[in-house]
Amino acid sequence: MAQYKIAWLPGDGIGIDVMNIARSVLDALEFDAEYPHGDIGWEFWRTEGNPLPERTLELLRNTDCALFGAITSMPKEEAQEALIPELKDSGLVYSSPIVRLRQEFNLHTNLRPCKAFDGNPLNLRDDIDLVVFRENTEGLYVGIEFHPLPAELMDVLTRNHPKMRRFGDVPLDDIAMSTRIITRNGARSIATQAFEYAKTHGYKTVTVVEKPNVLRETSGLMVRTARKVARDYPGIDLWEANIDAMCMWLVKNPQQYGVLVAGNMFGDIISDLCAQLVGGLGFAASGNIGDRYAVFEPTHGSAPKYTGQNKVNPMAMLLTTKLMLDWLGEDDRARRLETAIARVIREGDARTYDMGGGATTTEVGEAIVRRLS
Ligand code: IPM
Ligand code: MG
Repeated sequence: MAQYKIAWLPGDGIGIDVMNIARSVLDALEFDAEYPHGDIGWEFWRTEGNPLPERTLELLRNTDCALFGAITSMPKEEAQEALIPELKDSGLVYSSPIVRLRQEFNLHTNLRPCKAFDGNPLNLRDDIDLVVFRENTEGLYVGIEFHPLPAELMDVLTRNHPKMRRFGDVPLDDIAMSTRIITRNGARSIATQAFEYAKTHGYKTVTVVEKPNVLRETSGLMVRTARKVARDYPGIDLWEANIDAMCMWLVKNPQQYGVLVAGNMFGDIISDLCAQLVGGLGFAASGNIGDRYAVFEPTHGSAPKYTGQNKVNPMAMLLTTKLMLDWLGEDDRARRLETAIARVIREGDARTYDMGGGATTTEVGEAIVRRLS
């Protein structure tokens, strides 16, 4: 029997292309695993009305962790349109499988390192080394939304909150509402992990990125909790920044920051910003990590227009594979993979179009395999 069981979730579009490269690299590293395939993505939405079928959840429950490629997702109306005729009027609502996976497996932490590799022509600067800790199951992503607003809810809110009264006369069908929930435990957990990471990886600062001047309760709880956690880490400074200003500072002085911690939506936003500082989505890796299970995915989408063209940059997928190896405690393989990635970037002979080169996805994968020591 193999040492590990890794759920293999290529998903849609270029997810499939980049997962093939991940597999060849894992094989070259003589990583001892089985890779049971899981159905996920657009095809299963279209034909079964569920992009994340129950059988896939069951498969994941019987694996060590999952490696995930990418999926296509679309807004409500387009998703409805895509269903096969038998399912069209059955009231099904598309929900993002990755968001569901995060909740289903309580993958409370989203880890997104954004480091400038030497010699990457796409770096904004060469001395950037950021690590985003995004809270991954709460905040605006809890999926508690209303439209129309239920009458009972309007009633409770207008009775309990003076600011709701200005909406009292708006027809219920003309109000949509999304809920931002932050729990003390959720805030403590993400802040603690950010500080632990800073401590074990030698970062001097953790910056909490929120908006407590406006979101007094939810952002307030995040920041107050981060301050409390910070007391247990005397060598590491806690910096506090508002999300809007932080976007500006990250473009202006990204080299000044180290670990960043934020709630779900703000973490989503800054992680794309941070990714672009070091080469864009072609380099953006992530781990959705819980206490016992984790799903690793590149941050990019399924890029339908590049499907089957062997064109996209597989670096994000390979950096994601490296995060998986880290999480499994495969330190030596993780280090060998990162070193090979760094060499290919630095030596510059295999670059995909986004880096100004003409190499295919496969050629970049081969260049990395050649450099695995
Ligand atoms: C990400 C993505 C997802 C998110 C989408 C695809 C639902 O943007 O992983 O950052 O918003 O979390
Ligand atoms: Mg995102």
